[in-house]
Amino acid sequence: MTIYRIDEHVKGKVMQSILLLNAKGGSGKTTIATNLASLYAQAGFKTAVLDYDPQGSSHYWGSLRENCGRPPVHLIDASHKRTGITRAFQLKTPPDTERVIIDTPAGISRDLLREAVDRADMIIIPVTPSPIDIHATAGFVRELMLTLKTRARNIPIGIIANRTRQKMPIYQPLEKFLNGLNIPFLASLSDSDHYIDASACGIGIHEMDAKLTAQERSEWMPLIQWVDENLPHATSTENLPLRAAAN
Ligand SMILES: Nc1ncnc2c1ncn2[C@@H]1O[C@H](COP(=O)(O)OP(=O)(O)O)[C@@H](O)[C@H]1O
Ligand SMILES: [Mg+2]
Repeated sequence: MTIYRIDEHVKGKVMQSILLLNAKGGSGKTTIATNLASLYAQAGFKTAVLDYDPQGSSHYWGSLRENCGRPPVHLIDASHKRTGITRAFQLKTPPDTERVIIDTPAGISRDLLREAVDRADMIIIPVTPSPIDIHATAGFVRELMLTLKTRARNIPIGIIANRTRQKMPIYQPLEKFLNGLNIPFLASLSDSDHYIDASACGIGIHEMDAKLTAQERSEWMPLIQWVDENLPHATSTENLPLRAAAN
């Protein structure tokens, strides 16, 4: 069996931010955000979650995590601009934070979207295998590209097929559209109760029993590799924190 871990001695100290976006609710933004946060935290990275969702789902996940004895994830509520303090102070991460995962709600305001995009080093867009979601995502990507252009943000974007049940040709039109924009499909994550079990305890699938979650972990590999290869500002060794180790 193959297990995956982030290599201690090559982990970077540079702060990197990964933004989860999609105008549609229920596509998996919070699930992927919390699983990424768990992945980095359990590997020893100082990790923070910036939650733009007024419903505070990632925040809630983090509060569950506080009681489960896992490496901590710092939580920041970014959903409202607080009065009496500067926005920069409100969103400040602890010193030496290495990974910031940014979760966003469906229908995020333009104002907050611009702010989130400005803070991001890369963007991941999860899409569920529903024709309506796929169609909406193409429109969303078009708008996002315009926002990025007007803000002169040239950052990597990747798509994840989430909650898949089998190989689904349903994504083909979206894939074709994205190919023209040079946006890759990063991974296909199956519909699995393990994500629901993990979120109920404030953990991620990489903190669950490795055998039990072998399928989900293998599906995450191309996603983790893409994130790793596309993190900017890191040295070549910092850019290689992931290693597949056979046992
Ligand atoms: N791969 C998956 N397998 C099973 N359930 C999933 C998966 N991804 C998301 N879910 C579930 O789908 C629902 C919506 O996902 P969520 O991450 O909250 O979406 P979003 O944040 O985009 O609104 C949640 O109940 C979540 O537990
Ligand atoms: Mg959410």
